[in-house]
Amino acid sequence: MQYDVVVIGSGPGGYVAAIRCAQLGLKTAVVEKYKTFGGTCLNVGCIPSKALLDSSEHYHNAAHTFATHGIELKSLKVNMPQMIARKDDVVAQNTAGITYLFKKNKIDALQGLGSFIDKNTVLVTKEDGSTEQLSAKNVIIATGSKPTVLPFINIDKNRIITSTEALNIKEVPKTMVIIGGGVIGLELGSVYARLGTKVSVVEFLPSIISSMDTGLGKELQRVLKKSLGIEFYMNHKVTGATAKGKIVTVTADDAKGEELKLSADYCIVAVGRTAYTEGLGLDKIGIEITERGKKIPVNEHLETSVPGVYAIGDVVAGLMLAHKAEDEGTLVAEQLVGQKPHIDYNLIPGVVYTWPEVASVGKTEEQLRENGIKYKSGSFPFKASGRAKASMDTDGFIKVLANAETDEILGVHMIGPRAADMIAEAVLAMEFRASAEDIARVSHAHPTYTEAFREAAMAATDNRAIHI
Ligand code: FAD
Ligand code: NAI
Repeated sequence: MQYDVVVIGSGPGGYVAAIRCAQLGLKTAVVEKYKTFGGTCLNVGCIPSKALLDSSEHYHNAAHTFATHGIELKSLKVNMPQMIARKDDVVAQNTAGITYLFKKNKIDALQGLGSFIDKNTVLVTKEDGSTEQLSAKNVIIATGSKPTVLPFINIDKNRIITSTEALNIKEVPKTMVIIGGGVIGLELGSVYARLGTKVSVVEFLPSIISSMDTGLGKELQRVLKKSLGIEFYMNHKVTGATAKGKIVTVTADDAKGEELKLSADYCIVAVGRTAYTEGLGLDKIGIEITERGKKIPVNEHLETSVPGVYAIGDVVAGLMLAHKAEDEGTLVAEQLVGQKPHIDYNLIPGVVYTWPEVASVGKTEEQLRENGIKYKSGSFPFKASGRAKASMDTDGFIKVLANAETDEILGVHMIGPRAADMIAEAVLAMEFRASAEDIARVSHAHPTYTEAFREAAMAATDNRAIHI
C-alpha cells in the first residue's frame, strides 16, 4: 500500500499527526504496537492517573472535609477493585475514541511493531508473526518514552514498580516509598496518601518539582505534608531498593553521606522517562541516537537527518508532555502540505495535578535572573480569595512576572484550586503578548478563583491589588 504518510506510534503525538494529515487530504496510516491506541497518555499516563486522582480526591474529601461542610457519613471505605475498574473504563472510553477518530478520518490503523526497511518502507510485524510492508512518502516517528530505570535497582513490577504498575495496585498499601519528587511521584503519591497510605518521597535535589519556579515546590511540599502527611527526604540520593517477600527496603545517602533506610509495602521508581526507539531499526536509515537522553535529533521542522522522516513528542528534545506532542504532530502535518505553522515552546504550560494543583507558563524567576532580564513580580494568596474561602481551598498563590520596563507578562506561576484550568488564561494572554495591566483591567467573574490571577496582575502592575 502506498501512503503519503505513515505514523509510527499512536500516542497524542502520533494520533494527532495522523488525524491532521488526513484532514489535509494526505493518505495516512498509523502503526501501533499495543493492543489499544492512544499511547502512554491514554493507556498508562495522563488519563488513568487523572481518573485515580479524581477518585482518591472524592474519598479524601469525604473522609476529611465533608463533616466541616455539615455532611455526615457512616462507614466510609475504599473499594480499590472498583476504583481501578472505573479507571479502566475511563481508559477504554478514551482509547475507543481514537479508534473511532481513525475510522472517521479514513486512516488505516494497523496493530504491530513498526520498523524501517528503508526510509520509504515501514515493516509492520503483527502479534501473530505475520508482516506487512507499507510504502510511504513521509514517515513520522512518534514512539514516545518509557520509565527511566536506575541501573542498581531491579524493577520487579510486583513490589518495586513504575508508574504503569502503580496504576493497577488492587489494595491500599499501608506504606509506600517513592523515588523521585517529580510530577509522577507527587501525583501518584497523592493518590495513595489520600487513600490512607503512609507515603515517603526520597528526592535527590533540594526541591520537589525542581524545574518549576522554586516558590511552587516549596508551597506544594508544605501543603502535601500538612494535608496528606507525605514525608519528604530531600537531598537524598537513592543507592538501592530490594524486595524481600512483601517488604521493600530503600536506601539513600544524604549530602553528608549518612545512610537513610526506609521499608515499605511498595516502592515506585519515578526518576524520569527515556525516549523509546527500540525495535525501530533507525540504524537501517542512518539515524544516530546520542547516548544522553536517547532522543532522536531533529531540526526546527522536526525533520531528522533523513529527509522525509520526522520525529515528534517524547522521542525528541523538549518537555515530555501530551500537549507538546500534539502540537508537534499538527506542525509536521501542516508543513507537509506547505503551510508554515509555528510552536512557541516558551508558552507550553506545565501542570501538576496534585491538590492544590500547580501550573506554570513562561519564564521562572530563576530564568529571568539568569538571563539578566529586569522584572517585577506580583502575587496574590488564595487565602484572600472569597471563592477559595467558600470551598476551603485557601492554600497557594498566583504569581505574575512582568517585564520591569514594558509590563509584558513573562511568566505566570500558580499553586491553588483549579490552577490546571486557570493557567489557560495566562497562556492565551502571553500568546497575545498582554501586559500585566491588560489583565488587571479585564473583568473577571466574581466569585471565581480566576480573580486571583487578576489581583496578582494588579499587584505586578503597580502594587495595587485590592484584596490584600
Ligand atoms: P506516547 O504517548 O508514549 O506514545 C507512543 C506510542 O508509540 C506508544 O503507544 C507505543 O506503544 C508506540 N510505539 C513505540 N514504538 C513503536 C513501534 N516501533 N511500532 C509501533 N508502535 C510503537 N502529560 C501531560 O501533558 N499531562 C499529564 O497529565 C500527564 N500525565 C502523565 C502521567 C503518567 C503516569 C505518565 C507516565 C505520563 C504522563 N504524561 C502527561 C506524559 C505524556 O503521557 C507523554 O508526554 C505523552 O504520552 C507523549 O506522547 P507521544 O505521542 O510522544 O508518545
Ligand atoms: P521528573 O523528571 O518530573 O522527576 C524525577 C525526579 O526524580 C527529579 O526530581 C529527580 O531529581 C529525581 N531523581 C532522579 N534520580 C534520583 C535518585 N537516584 N534518587 C532520588 N531522586 C532522584 O520525572 P517523572 O516524575 O518520572 O515524570 C516523567 C515525565 O512524565 C515528566 O517529564 C513529565 O513531563 C511527564 N509527566 C507529566 C505529568 C503532567 O503533565 N501532569 C504527569 C506525569 C508525568
